[in-house]
Amino acid sequence: MQREFIRNFSIVAHIDHGKSTLADQLLLKTAAITEREFQSQILDDLAVERQRGITVKARAVAIYYDYTGPDETSHVLPGMEVPPGRYELNLIDTPGHVDFHYEVSRSLAACEGALLLVDAFQGVQAQTVANAYAAIEGNLEIIPVVNKIDLPVTRIDEVLNEVETILGLDGSTALRVSAKQGLNIESVLRALVERIHPPKGEPTAPLKALVFDSKYDDYRGVVTYIRVKEGTINKGDKIRFMKGGTSHEVLDLGQFRPNMVACESLGVGQVGYIITGIKVLGNVHVGDTVTHAGRQAAEALPGYKQPKPMVFCGMYPIDATDFEHLREELDKMALNDASFSFAPETSDALGFGFRCGFLGMLHMEIIQQRLEDEADVDLIQTAPNVTYQILKRGGEVVQIDNPVETPDAGVIEEFREPIAKVTFIVPSKNIGVIMQLCGDRRGIYIGTEFLGPDRAQLVYELPLAEIIYDMHDKLKSVTQGYGTMDYEVIGFRAADLVKMDILVKGVKVDALSTIVYRGFAERRGRALVKKLKEEITKHQFEIALQAAIGARVIARETISALRKNVTAKCYGGDISRKRKLLQKQKEGKKRMKQFGQVEIPQKAFLSVLEAG
Ligand code: GTP
Repeated sequence: MQREFIRNFSIVAHIDHGKSTLADQLLLKTAAITEREFQSQILDDLAVERQRGITVKARAVAIYYDYTGPDETSHVLPGMEVPPGRYELNLIDTPGHVDFHYEVSRSLAACEGALLLVDAFQGVQAQTVANAYAAIEGNLEIIPVVNKIDLPVTRIDEVLNEVETILGLDGSTALRVSAKQGLNIESVLRALVERIHPPKGEPTAPLKALVFDSKYDDYRGVVTYIRVKEGTINKGDKIRFMKGGTSHEVLDLGQFRPNMVACESLGVGQVGYIITGIKVLGNVHVGDTVTHAGRQAAEALPGYKQPKPMVFCGMYPIDATDFEHLREELDKMALNDASFSFAPETSDALGFGFRCGFLGMLHMEIIQQRLEDEADVDLIQTAPNVTYQILKRGGEVVQIDNPVETPDAGVIEEFREPIAKVTFIVPSKNIGVIMQLCGDRRGIYIGTEFLGPDRAQLVYELPLAEIIYDMHDKLKSVTQGYGTMDYEVIGFRAADLVKMDILVKGVKVDALSTIVYRGFAERRGRALVKKLKEEITKHQFEIALQAAIGARVIARETISALRKNVTAKCYGGDISRKRKLLQKQKEGKKRMKQFGQVEIPQKAFLSVLEAG
């Protein structure tokens, strides 16, 4: 395919504004999928994505569109030649959630343009802004698209106004579509041809292809996603990963249409996959450059900044014999997701497991769910914490991913925590409650900007630890669902933090230790032991639950001893009901860990989340 007939683009949007639906429509209109497949949203092929309805992993699909020439609604870019003919459009799908910024910018690096999708009623939201800025920074041509014009109530004019005032884009060139009903999809295909530059690059130059993703396939080994920037790559070529430093033969290559379709070569601007027989996980690095082993490119492409995991938790197999199996599964997970990391650790309470690092809370939930669905391992997960820095008295700075590692208070010169810049877009009438919410969480007010008659953008700096748990839920509830937020970690700052331990029947349970702001410690401690009291069932003996800072107990609850038989509730009558109750108890037990004499259920380890 000649590069003049290639367009590489992404769709960026706030979550739920219809990105996957539009992507599927584009596939449907260009006959890459059938009506039946459209129904099942094929781009979201991970089970987790279907369940949650969110796109997690970027995808790349090649579609073909027969362009017949401009019409009266066209806005052809000045100076651009667009001859009628068959065009190859490579859609690189991106996730819309704040945890996955990294994947968004990664996908954008493989494109020349982006469709910026905005819901016709909800308008510009926090992640619309963040994603649009990422595309602007990447020098991408942006095509604004207002989606869901079929909704009974829309605010199209206001939305276009927001696109102009907040994002600085020309609202008069925006397309108006309904992805769900398939309205005006042709105008989108036409705009892709007319408003996005074809890829640059020299077909005869030494090969340079950007690795923008990779996945593990049980049968074929590692599948590497590439975008050719210079030169041509052919089946059978000997290639070299410039940063990884390894050489391989291209055993197979092709495009996603949307299933893997093999071809003989990929030229300048094309997007597809290569299979090189690499079986060792971790040998392909996203952001690396592929070149020929013989005729090498002089220098590698810029690549990506590796994102740093900011949220950590422990994951322990309930059955200790699953440990090695869990390690293999985590290895696979890490290959598919460069932003996920893990290392073995041990806990007095939970035995052998892994400390896992994530970009944020949603990322964590998704990995956990994927492990359980795909890997068939039952896990106990500890409450998440952010990463901290400690300046020791000697001047050494250490990073802490687990509260248990906190050194003695005596050697700490300064305790530092990550700070995020948080942008909220909320109805103006909710400004007061948002300020209250942020004030309660040690937020520093930065500014307010009004976006129209009834919407405003608020910016705060907040400790990451104060936002990861439930900030999003709180925001949704105080704004009746209308508020959105986005955040970005901007650095570490000193704070008055302490380690809070939990003692169950007088014994410290390491997996329940947390790091808290001193001023909130008593309140959090009280809430936490109260929550634990609800989660831990009664035993034959009394159980004391205590929260302590060092040797000082700051909160206490007691679980009284069990007296009655559990089946007593059934009034003796129905035997099947009794059985059911016992069965239920047995299932509940599966997710418990015996700690000393006390059984602690999985949910108790997450109590910290609810003890805000
Ligand atoms: P993420 O992948 O999670 O970021 O979401 P998304 O942006 O891909 O949104 P998705 O395509 O899953 O659509 C979200 C919801 O909006 C779904 O319930 C769609 O059916 C609905 N939707 C999408 N497009 C339209 C539209 O044009 N009109 C209406 N009425 N609903 C739509």
